[in-house]
Amino acid sequence: MKNIEIIGTGMAKAGRKVTNDDLAKIVETSDEWITTRTGIKERMFCDEGESAYTLAFEAAKNAIESAGIKKEEIDCVVCGTISGEYITPSMACVVQRELELKEDIPVLDVNAACSGFIYGIEVARGLINSNGGKYALVIGCEQLSKLLDMEDRNTCVLFGDGAGAAVIKAVDGGVYESVLGARGGYEITVEGAGKVESKIKMDGKAVFKFAVDAIPKCLKTLQEKGKITLDDVDMVICHQANSRIIDHCVRKLKADPKKFYKNMERFGNTSAASIPMALDEVVKEEKIKPGSTIMMVGFGGGLTWAGVLLRIGAK
Ligand SMILES: CC(C)(COP(=O)(O)OP(=O)(O)OC[C@H]1O[C@@H](n2cnc3c(N)ncnc32)[C@H](O)[C@@H]1OP(=O)(O)O)[C@@H](O)C(=O)NCCC(=O)NCCS
Repeated sequence: MKNIEIIGTGMAKAGRKVTNDDLAKIVETSDEWITTRTGIKERMFCDEGESAYTLAFEAAKNAIESAGIKKEEIDCVVCGTISGEYITPSMACVVQRELELKEDIPVLDVNAACSGFIYGIEVARGLINSNGGKYALVIGCEQLSKLLDMEDRNTCVLFGDGAGAAVIKAVDGGVYESVLGARGGYEITVEGAGKVESKIKMDGKAVFKFAVDAIPKCLKTLQEKGKITLDDVDMVICHQANSRIIDHCVRKLKADPKKFYKNMERFGNTSAASIPMALDEVVKEEKIKPGSTIMMVGFGGGLTWAGVLLRIGAK
C-alpha cells in the first residue's frame, strides 16, 4: 500500500458575509454570546448564483492548479459533503463533468458530515492503491446556509458555507497513518430524501462532550501509530466547529496552541469544507511547506471521527 502526500490545495469562499450582529437582528442572540461560546465572529453564506457546487468547482480548480498537474492526470475524485444539490448525481460526478476530468476513474461522494474530508482522503488513498493511478482530487464543500433553521438560535449562529480541496499523490516511502470511527447517533441530524424540512438539528452540549473526547483520542492514536509526538508535527488542523473545543483539547494534551490552526472566527463551522479550507490557508500563509508533517482531525454528525498524519509533498 503506497502512502500519500498533499501536493496542491485550493479553496473557495462564499460571497455574502454575515456577522454576529446581522444574526442578532434575526434571532435573540448577541455578538458577545456567540463570540465567547464559539469564537465565531462572522460566516460566509452563498450569494445569488453560488452553491455548494460552484464553490466545489472553484476549490477543485485551484487545487489542481496549485498541484501543477494537468486535470487529465486526476485518477480519482472523492467529495465530502452533506449539502449537494442532488442526491444523485453525486457532487463529485458533477465536478468531474464540469471540470472535464477523464472518465475511467472512480468518482464518488462520502457522507461523514464534518469528518467527510478526512474520510475522503482515506477512501481516495484506498482507491488509488486498489484501482491504480497516482493523483486523487479530494474535496470538502458545503452550503449549510440552506439547511439552517433561521429561527433556531442554537444552530443558526454556528454554520457557514465554503469549499476546500486537495490533490494527493501516491508516493513510495513517506508517512501516512489514519484513524477512523463512528458511533451511530442522532445528536446532529438533517432529514433526507422526500422530507420537506431538511434543517440541521443538534444537541450542542452532547456534541461538545463528544468532540473534546474524540479529538485527543484521534491525536493520541496517530502519535502511537506514527511513533511520533506532537512536537514532531508542524501543524494540527482540527475541524473548525468551535474555538473552545480546540482550546479544551490543547489543554488536555498539554500541546502548543500555536500549532492548532483556527479560522472559525471568519467562516464559522463549514462542516466537510472546514479542514480543507484551513489547510489551504496554512499552505498559502507558508505555515507549512513541502516536507512538513501535519495531522488533521475531523468530528461530527454520525457521530463520526477521523484523523490523518501525513506530509506535504513537493509538486
Ligand atoms: C452550541 C454551544 C455553543 C452552546 O454553548 P453552551 O455553553 O453549551 O450553551 P448552553 O447550551 O448551555 O446554552 C446556554 C443558554 O444559551 C442559550 N442559547 C443558545 N444559543 C444561543 C444563542 N445563539 N444566543 C444566545 N443564547 C443562546 C440557550 O438557550 C441556553 O439558555 P437557557 O439556559 O435559558 O436554556 C455549545 O454547546 C457547542 O459549541 N457545542 C458543540 C456544537 C458543535 O460544534 N457542533 C458541530 C460539530 S460538527
